[in-house]
Amino acid sequence: MNKPLAGLDYEALMNVVRRRRSVRAFEKGRRVGRDVLEKIVECGRWAPSGANAQPWDFIVVDEPGMKEKVFKVFMRQSQRLIDHAKGFPAVKKSYMANTVAIIVVVGDPRWKSCFPQGTSPEFVDEYAANNEKIYLVSLGAAIQNLQLGVTAMGLTSAWLSGGGEATTNRDLSELLGYPPNLEAVGTIPVGYPQKNVSLRYRRPLAQVLHWNRYEPEKFRRQAQIDYYLENLRPFAMYRDVERMQEWEDTDEKLGPWKDAFTTATPNPGGKLDR
Ligand SMILES: Cc1cc2nc3c(=O)[nH]c(=O)nc-3n(C[C@H](O)[C@H](O)[C@H](O)COP(=O)(O)O)c2cc1C
Repeated sequence: MNKPLAGLDYEALMNVVRRRRSVRAFEKGRRVGRDVLEKIVECGRWAPSGANAQPWDFIVVDEPGMKEKVFKVFMRQSQRLIDHAKGFPAVKKSYMANTVAIIVVVGDPRWKSCFPQGTSPEFVDEYAANNEKIYLVSLGAAIQNLQLGVTAMGLTSAWLSGGGEATTNRDLSELLGYPPNLEAVGTIPVGYPQKNVSLRYRRPLAQVLHWNRYEPEKFRRQAQIDYYLENLRPFAMYRDVERMQEWEDTDEKLGPWKDAFTTATPNPGGKLDR
């Protein structure tokens, strides 16, 4: 194996990457200093972005009165999700009361103008559609960096997308004072974990990795997605192990889809139809 460059450490990086977790239970009554929160935001600041537009701002809410108000916005948001999002295994966000801070990542969609723009009608649409992706993945990179920073500081967090819903964004913009055309694409409650950090389900490396071309045996057919949605989603989201084979009820839960979820080749026939 190649030696890492001096000062760089793959194992240390992977330790943080693997330990970054979506934790939805924090210890009550803990606090951290602003120096810690600044270091976390510093990680977000170094994220890559399309055209280096940095279409983000980080609103760190650490003042108890304001945290309580943000908490209430998300309690309403999670109740709406339970009432109106079809079968989504939503968790009540009461755990947000025990955060040391809540970081709201606000995106500014006007910066999409800095990404490639088409010169003819055909290309206007083509580039506009991709601008949306560039904008959102840039914000995703910043949020990911924040979460890694949180982990490296010995804290833990979650990645909440509810602020991107129009109603919640309106509430947050009124509360936090940002212009309503900006978007709270990610909200990161930060705290001390109630229990030890564990792992979560991940597809095997051999299943996600394609060498030199797309390997059709690794294609996941529509029926597999439907099965995940109908039977597996809450377990894949909330059970604390990496491999589905480690579940006590693997055979029962995975049924005829066991190999598809646990081996390198979910689609041994290699057909690329649905
Ligand atoms: C774009 C995006 C949106 C997410 N939105 C939410 C959310 O609104 N609420 C939540 O509890 N978790 C949310 N998550 C966290 C995922 O559920 C979580 O990353 C996934 O189940 C894997 O678990 P892990 O992060 O612990 O590895 C989101 C993650 C991403 C990347």
